Amino acid sequence: MSKQPKDKVVLAYSGGLDTSVMIKWLIEERDLDVIALVGDVGQKRQDLDFIRQKALDIGAMECVVIDMRAEFVNEYLTKALAANALYENKYPLVSALSRPVIVKYLVETAKQFDAQYVAHGCTGKGNDQVRFEVGTITLNPELKILAPVREWDLLTRDQEMEWAAARGIPVPTTAADPYSIDDNIWGRAIECGILEDPWAEPPADIYQLTQDPDKGPDAPQYLVVGFEKGIPCSLDGQEMSFQEIIENLNEIGGMHGYGRIDVIENRLVGLKSREIYETPGALALIEAHKALEDLTLERDLLHSKLSIEQEWAVQVYNGHWFSPLKQALDAFLLSTQKAVTGEVRLKFWKGTCLVVGRRSDVSLYDFGLATYGEEDSFDRQASKGFIDIFGLSVKTWAIQQRKLAPGSGED
Ligand code: ARG
Repeated sequence: MSKQPKDKVVLAYSGGLDTSVMIKWLIEERDLDVIALVGDVGQKRQDLDFIRQKALDIGAMECVVIDMRAEFVNEYLTKALAANALYENKYPLVSALSRPVIVKYLVETAKQFDAQYVAHGCTGKGNDQVRFEVGTITLNPELKILAPVREWDLLTRDQEMEWAAARGIPVPTTAADPYSIDDNIWGRAIECGILEDPWAEPPADIYQLTQDPDKGPDAPQYLVVGFEKGIPCSLDGQEMSFQEIIENLNEIGGMHGYGRIDVIENRLVGLKSREIYETPGALALIEAHKALEDLTLERDLLHSKLSIEQEWAVQVYNGHWFSPLKQALDAFLLSTQKAVTGEVRLKFWKGTCLVVGRRSDVSLYDFGLATYGEEDSFDRQASKGFIDIFGLSVKTWAIQQRKLAPGSGED
């Protein structure tokens, strides 16, 4: 008699302890066949073949490894840059951006293997669980989602390691890193440990992409970033892919100690958390991109765009990458990028990155209008009539106010 086939689950697998334990847990506790999905979004990681073999050794029926980097850059980071995306004006959405691309592949892989479930390794108090799950149901409302960390009773790391060791799952031999880290091409997020005390200065050893600003080179370094319709396309005149440009700026910015962020952030689930980020490339590119927009976008468009940018960052932070509102905001942002072609000169030095120059063939900066020198072409006489009319409403109000004021002779 043939055995009833089991239901299947596609698990977002990192190769770390949590998701390794999860493979076994899903098999033992939920009686599922597990397909592990490993996504490369440019994170620092172990060898992918090694991770794949580990998943299979633990008992996964299959382990699918996907290089998502190009798609992550071209479909996700281009949109983030168009939005100059900084949640709460500070955080370039590093983790929030990588979740939807992973979700997209979770859902596709589930379809491919005819799986009824997807699973992730997020805890129950962060944003990432929301991003995984809201993203999944937006793409396929029929899929069921499992979040083992939220429900298993392996509360401490010691319990988890014991459970794992008893089942032959490799456990780390070195002392556990007290930090929770998530990284990809756009940067690196560091949480937990001593960082949970918002008064404590981050220890020097948490940083990997950026060196201490004091230790940066004494001489400043200039770099010219070229943009074509809002997308970075060259560095110092040399054509390069957006991905290569990010990688170069991570390296150079990091060497100059630029790109560290230390903030208290409002999570969607209602709590404040202390977060450290290292995002030299992302921040430098956002600064450069903004500077080029200042030069090339018409004033009212630029002003409206600022509020759309905020809205976009909140939507993406909150896990609504695939929502209709977010798509509509993307359409607006894309239409603004037609004009964003030109070059921006950056100066890196001791933890700073300053925009020191910008130019474009489609610049709206008109020297004749702006100059106070001889070439001035601005019609100053027209300003008088403009101000009379522009100020008329408040002038009328002010006259009335004076009539009502005590001592004005009207009472
Ligand atoms: N606070 C950031 C966010 O919600 C970073 C989260 C990093 N995730 C992690 N597992 N360490 O997007």
